[in-house]
Amino acid sequence: MPNRTGGVTQFQLPTGWRGRLTLRRMNRSHSGLTDWGLTHITVEPKYTSLDVGCGGGRTVGKLAALATQGKVYGVDYSEDSVAMSKKINAAAIRAGRAEIAKASVSQLPFPDNTFDLITAVETHFWWSNLPTDMREVFRVTKRGGIFIVVAEVYKGATSTVSRWTEKQAPQTGIAMLTPDEHRDLFTNAGFVDIHLDIDAEKGWICVTGRKV
Ligand SMILES: C[S@@+](CC[C@H](N)C(=O)[O-])C[C@H]1O[C@@H](n2cnc3c(N)ncnc32)[C@H](O)[C@@H]1O
Repeated sequence: MPNRTGGVTQFQLPTGWRGRLTLRRMNRSHSGLTDWGLTHITVEPKYTSLDVGCGGGRTVGKLAALATQGKVYGVDYSEDSVAMSKKINAAAIRAGRAEIAKASVSQLPFPDNTFDLITAVETHFWWSNLPTDMREVFRVTKRGGIFIVVAEVYKGATSTVSRWTEKQAPQTGIAMLTPDEHRDLFTNAGFVDIHLDIDAEKGWICVTGRKV
């Protein structure tokens, strides 16, 4: 999320010591939002999952704890995000239960139909070409697999952070979408069974879709 101290690029592309500080903060501040998002799906023990835009790696850790017999991959296009994700998930990586790689959502380094579950927490609004990036996520989702987007802002939400983020959008380039636009994004990428959940007071949104 953009902040008032000019830290926009640190949320979009965490870099250097400021980026590492931001990643540590986001690991803390996004934890409740992530847990809320994950209440809308079931993570089966044997799932192979991917967290796109994994940032500081906390969601990768949460997924590894839920999919006890599965494997979790994390990708991020920021070198510093990849380094921190590797650090905080070192034990799971050593155990062969997690892998983190530097990659853009626009070109995911995985074969078609790989993942039972793909998560994207507080990241989709920064992707450079949302419609085609969604198609790329769709490509690597298994048939029957789920994609879940979780965010603490959306267009039209009345929370302070959403209203402020929307106001800054022309400067930051963040893609603020309405709930209906989120639904269209999932539909146009090929997902079905689309569910939207909103916490109106907090301005949180969770969207899930399934690949047939
Ligand atoms: C606001 S942070 C959120 C990080 C983490 N998901 C969390 O909840 O704390 C956004 C992350 O998405 C990554 N990101 C943004 N655009 C990306 C893209 N096109 N491909 C891969 N990662 C991207 C950034 O590098 C950053 O680590």
